[in-house]
Amino acid sequence: METSQGEYFVVKAKDNGVQVIGLTRGLDTKFHHTEKLDKGEVMIAQFTDHTSAVKIRGKAIVFTKYGVIDTEE
Ligand code: TRP
Repeated sequence: METSQGEYFVVKAKDNGVQVIGLTRGLDTKFHHTEKLDKGEVMIAQFTDHTSAVKIRGKAIVFTKYGVIDTEE
């Protein structure tokens, strides 16, 4: 396992319909999963062999080891 993998992140939705979109690892960068969160819902997820990037749509707070990011700021 590479060091880029296995890291966790947390998304807390501040609104209904927030989307957490997983993008594939490797030569192709494609959406492979969209998880929808409603207001107050929390998703705890990991970067994996299948997921190298994550795109977040909507109003949410994202917690990573690099800090806390509010998507509205
Ligand atoms: N099956 C996916 C995987 O193992 C599940 C997953 C992990 C995921 N992290 C994610 C889906 C982040 C969306 C966003 O990679």
